[in-house]
Amino acid sequence: MKILVTGGLGFIGSHTVVELQNEGFEVVIIDNLSNTTEKVIDGIVAITGKKPIFEKMDLRDKADVKDFFARHSDVSGVIHFAASKAVGESVENPLLYYENNINTLVYLLQELSQKPEAQFIFSSSCTVYGQAEEMPITEDASVQPAISPYGNTKQIGEEIIRDTAKVTNVNAILLRYFNPIGSHPSAEIGELPIGVPQNLVPFITQTGMGLREKLSVFGDDYPTIDGTCIRDYIHVVDLAKAHVVALQRLIGNKNEQKVETFNVGTGTGSTVLEVINTFEKVSGKKLPYQIVGRREGDVITAYANTDKANNVLGWKAQSTLEDGLASAWKWEQKIRS
Ligand code: UD1
Repeated sequence: MKILVTGGLGFIGSHTVVELQNEGFEVVIIDNLSNTTEKVIDGIVAITGKKPIFEKMDLRDKADVKDFFARHSDVSGVIHFAASKAVGESVENPLLYYENNINTLVYLLQELSQKPEAQFIFSSSCTVYGQAEEMPITEDASVQPAISPYGNTKQIGEEIIRDTAKVTNVNAILLRYFNPIGSHPSAEIGELPIGVPQNLVPFITQTGMGLREKLSVFGDDYPTIDGTCIRDYIHVVDLAKAHVVALQRLIGNKNEQKVETFNVGTGTGSTVLEVINTFEKVSGKKLPYQIVGRREGDVITAYANTDKANNVLGWKAQSTLEDGLASAWKWEQKIRS
């Protein structure tokens, strides 16, 4: 079966391509290379021994999307990663985010919805819950008004998919990711942040390599065990596998509703200081850091209730925070050597 993976050369996309190929799927990737490079294909080949089809294309070009589906009429399954994800940038340039994350989704669904059957997996985010009242967060927790255009594109994206599924043959699974970290254990593929990393783990590994002087910990006066924020750090390989399981669920018509939503996390929350300590343990390095003020827009605590993913989807995270940080560190060392 041929599956389209948009953004398939990005961080989560490339790991998902590996897991799809390992499961015997034929993969065609669309990526505009805005935040990655074509070299990622070599890493995928090194791991799987198989070269995915790659088309450099920008999904904002509606005619190109139409043309793609005409040429690949055997594609009915789509895993849609291609999107922009920097929260701060989305506040500065909202229209870029609405164009990148919403127009592309609409164009894909316009083509897909004409098929007799269509499976669609969407990259959503735990950001839709805002600061949830109860921990761990279940899928029933209410969606809060978004605090950034980026977060809003995830909420609107979910609604566009629900509305489309109601009146077309599209079946969809919305995966709400918690905080993806790590890299493939082979260190053939991993995260490639451009410029100064905004996310915690790439900032830590770059600081470990001496590329950054020190990590700034955003706030130590939160009402948590050590005052720093709590997140649910999920290994990217576990996250990638969740996409394959979700796709198989749709292909096998096992879904109970036309659109289903699953949290994808480990169920365990870790504070920023716990992440630092665990990094120091797995790397054997002392990490220079300073406590600074809170970062605007940060929620205090977010970790997943994974019962629905475990029991209904039949997926469970296998890796620990240590595994995730050790693989991120191995990757960082490899790309700087
Ligand atoms: C962020 C986004 C989230 C998005 C996700 C995508 C915000 C507020 N949230 O998640 O909407 O879906 O990225 O990748 O931007 N931290 C530090 N120092 C740093 C970096 C981070 O202390 O240099 C702390 C943060 O305060 C937070 C934790 O580390 O408590 C994780 O931060 P990050 O990796 O940026 O993820 P989120 O903020 O959870």
